[in-house]
Amino acid sequence: MASLKFLLYASAASAQYVPIPWAYTQHEPPVLVSVNGAVRHQTMMGGGCSGAFGVACDQTGAEGLSPANQQLVSDYLFNENVGGLSILRNRIGSSPTDGILGNCPSSPSSPANYTFGTDENSADSCQLKLTRQALIANPKLFIYADAWSAPGCFKTDETDINGGLICGVRGSNCTQDWRQAYANYLVQYAKFYEEKGITVNMLGAYNEPDFNPVSYASMESDGYQAKDFLEVLYPTVKKYRKDLLVSCCDATGARQERDILYELNSAGGGRLYDVATWHNYQSEPKEPFNTLGQPNLETEWSDGSGTFNTTWDTTGQSAEGLQWALYMHNAFTRSDTSGYLHWWCAQNSTGLTAGSDAVLVRLANNSFEVSRRLWAFAGYFRFARPGSVRIDASSSAETLYVSAFENTNGTVAIPVINAAHFQRDVQVHVNGCRLGKGSVVAYLADNNHNNTVVGTYHVNGGMFQASVPPRSMTTFFLQ
Ligand SMILES: *[C@@H]1O[C@H](CO)[C@@H](O)[C@H](O)[C@H]1NC(C)=O
Ligand SMILES: *[C@@H]1O[C@H](CO)[C@@H](O)[C@H](O)[C@H]1NC(C)=O
Ligand SMILES: *[C@@H]1O[C@H](CO)[C@@H](O)[C@H](O)[C@H]1NC(C)=O
Ligand SMILES: *[C@@H]1O[C@H](CO)[C@@H](O)[C@H](O)[C@H]1NC(C)=O
Ligand SMILES: *[C@@H]1O[C@H](CO)[C@@H](O)[C@H](O)[C@H]1NC(C)=O
Ligand SMILES: *[C@@H]1O[C@H](CO)[C@@H](O)[C@H](O)[C@H]1NC(C)=O
Ligand SMILES: *[C@@H]1O[C@H](CO)[C@@H](O)[C@H](O)[C@H]1NC(C)=O
Repeated sequence: MASLKFLLYASAASAQYVPIPWAYTQHEPPVLVSVNGAVRHQTMMGGGCSGAFGVACDQTGAEGLSPANQQLVSDYLFNENVGGLSILRNRIGSSPTDGILGNCPSSPSSPANYTFGTDENSADSCQLKLTRQALIANPKLFIYADAWSAPGCFKTDETDINGGLICGVRGSNCTQDWRQAYANYLVQYAKFYEEKGITVNMLGAYNEPDFNPVSYASMESDGYQAKDFLEVLYPTVKKYRKDLLVSCCDATGARQERDILYELNSAGGGRLYDVATWHNYQSEPKEPFNTLGQPNLETEWSDGSGTFNTTWDTTGQSAEGLQWALYMHNAFTRSDTSGYLHWWCAQNSTGLTAGSDAVLVRLANNSFEVSRRLWAFAGYFRFARPGSVRIDASSSAETLYVSAFENTNGTVAIPVINAAHFQRDVQVHVNGCRLGKGSVVAYLADNNHNNTVVGTYHVNGGMFQASVPPRSMTTFFLQ
């Protein structure tokens, strides 16, 4: 899987040694890890990030990044052999200047005058250009186009900021019903990308509808109101293209998403979406989602509390790589989550939030720095590719976290996180998998390794034994 080209990048970078605060020797018997391919869980969709609100412009050259480095940043994020991400979340603009409707039609049934920028560099707030670069890095990129709000003139508050409802849902007080107009608007966005030769894979009508910020695009909805809109959107989307997925509803937290889904189900709308989407801000995933069998996907989060930090593990800070490996482990194993998206991909260091931990890559003129959080994503998504299925895995030690995924071609990824401050031996027993050649390659992420090969093993009698460093993530790849 490793490509020479990227190993060269890694070795050319200056290796910076960051010690683990207290690492020591502790002699304990090997931890027993058991993987069982006969017990199957969710199908994986992948990892990703976003270039919303103009940060796509930073990444695509507006702040001095050369064309070669723009592509290199996309390769770091989206190439199967580097960051391994495969989902790009684009924002469908909602204002007269960043959306696709400069002027409001006089009534819901009047023709809408949609427009999409003609300049390839700036169209769709540079998200078109970013999408093209990400597609070069990963031709199977999954594009999630998500709106934060309907255009203001379709809403109760007549602006796309400051909450408000879509006119026509229960509790709205408008004289006209704009639900179909908003459904058409969302589908039109996908059509503009289609005209550019790009397939949008999933459409979303909401961003954090349980939360009402005054200053930026937002729109409220509970689960009942979501039912009133999705019963218009869902058939409109499927009439355009059956394989275009519909999400619901990008709530601020896992619990908030469950609340919306509970109401949506009660209202009889539990089948009006294909993927339950949620953010990790206000609450964490702790149990399976209350869908009617649809997958769930974490679609936005960054810790947001600190400055940009490239470290893997120094003092257990929440924006560090090791913690992100654990956040994902919990979502995958407790809530059967099918994928995990960071908030922004890359931004310049003087922009909106000035080099905060909201980005995976920090840009500075023509150079860039990669957060080790990306190596946590890589530890999962380089190896558990879209379409892989999570299979059962357990560990005999609470501080050794294990998950396992079987790809469609039978290869198996076993990410193992050692949260202990000492090196450990692990004895991995694999049952119910095809195993192919029985070869195992270990990829390590820690303060000194960026998901790099550190060992090879062989499965004998369904078992192999390896050792894992303190405070690390090792992904064993079996084929
Ligand atoms: C690993 O990646 C980090 C950025 O995430 C970089 O600073 C470091 O030099 C890389 N280390 C190696 C050994 O390539
Ligand atoms: C459509 O919108 C564009 C840009 O907002 C504007 O230039 C054009 O005049 C509009 N066309 C009509 C028929 O209203
Ligand atoms: C409808 O409700 C919104 C939000 O509460 C309010 O701002 C607006 O004035 C109301 N419009 C009408 C026509 O009552
Ligand atoms: C990252 O954050 C940790 C904890 O706050 C700190 O010790 C470390 O120096 C930071 N590293 C960088 C490169 O900012
Ligand atoms: C990038 O930095 C420039 C200043 O150099 C700033 O004006 C711009 O808003 C930033 N871009 C974003 C998207 O924040
Ligand atoms: C970018 O380049 C300008 C001009 O050389 C310089 O003033 C600025 O400090 C640089 N910004 C960063 C973040 O390196
Ligand atoms: C199987 O699929 C994985 C994930 O795409 C890939 O890395 C691997 O090379 C493939 N292996 C074989 C034997 O086809």
